[in-house]
Amino acid sequence: MKNLLVVHGANLNLLGEREPELYGTSSLDELNAAIKKFANGLGLEVKTFQSNHEGAMIDFIHENRRWAEGIVINAGAFTHYSYALRDAILSVNLPAVDVHLSDIYQREEFRRHSVIKDVCIKQIVGLGSQGYLRAVEFLVGNDLINSLKKFISRRPNRDQILNKAVEMLKTAYPKYTWVGIYLLESDELVLHNYLGKPSPHTRIPVGKGICGAAVHERAAIIVPDVKADPRYLACSLDTRSEIVVPIMSGQRVYGEIDIDSDLADIFHEGDQQILEKCAELLLEVLSF
Ligand code: SME
Repeated sequence: MKNLLVVHGANLNLLGEREPELYGTSSLDELNAAIKKFANGLGLEVKTFQSNHEGAMIDFIHENRRWAEGIVINAGAFTHYSYALRDAILSVNLPAVDVHLSDIYQREEFRRHSVIKDVCIKQIVGLGSQGYLRAVEFLVGNDLINSLKKFISRRPNRDQILNKAVEMLKTAYPKYTWVGIYLLESDELVLHNYLGKPSPHTRIPVGKGICGAAVHERAAIIVPDVKADPRYLACSLDTRSEIVVPIMSGQRVYGEIDIDSDLADIFHEGDQQILEKCAELLLEVLSF
């Protein structure tokens, strides 16, 4: 994915002035600059747009439908009643994320329903400007999943698929410093392939480390600060946070995706969702 639209709707031109306790003190220009900087860091080009007019937003989406590969949209109050905007998102057939600065579920009744939510691949609310950055990351992940599906459909062998998955993840997200796949062999996790510095932990018993704990618990684990987690087995002294997502079907674990970052508290629900989709694809080849 290269090209992204960021669409802001009604009243967002007054960002920074309008109810700052709800919407923050940054202006729309500052928000757009932050989104562009972040997206550029992921290798994306961004076109931003704001309008207080429903039709103008629709025109902008239509006009850019062949250039764009994804949409981040905060339609403001149009979110709650604009079927025309909903249809516009559907009609251009682009993945979109419905973003709201405030938590629309904690406010007036009329804000609790988004008519565009179900034509979007994700909704992010209540995270302020950070929500837009997470939306950008999620669109990158969604694109990665589609590319991995396409790669798998060409019927490469198991190792080619595992290598490709690690390569795609490491390339898509600069914050992923170390990406590896462990496979479960009886009661040990064995490092199959990775990108990053060599790890001393090429075999990890189930129950040991964060990796072993995730197999034991049959659940993804996010560690925001590895130094504060006594289970953590150090791979690099620079690592600050880690996410581990099991590759499993029912209660049976086949392996896991393990990712380290040199940045603290960097993994969130969006990373977990993308990695779980990735694990589902890998499951098809590992459980064969
Ligand atoms: N940190 C992991 C060990 C694997 S290395 O990070 C690659 C753990 O605690 O299980």
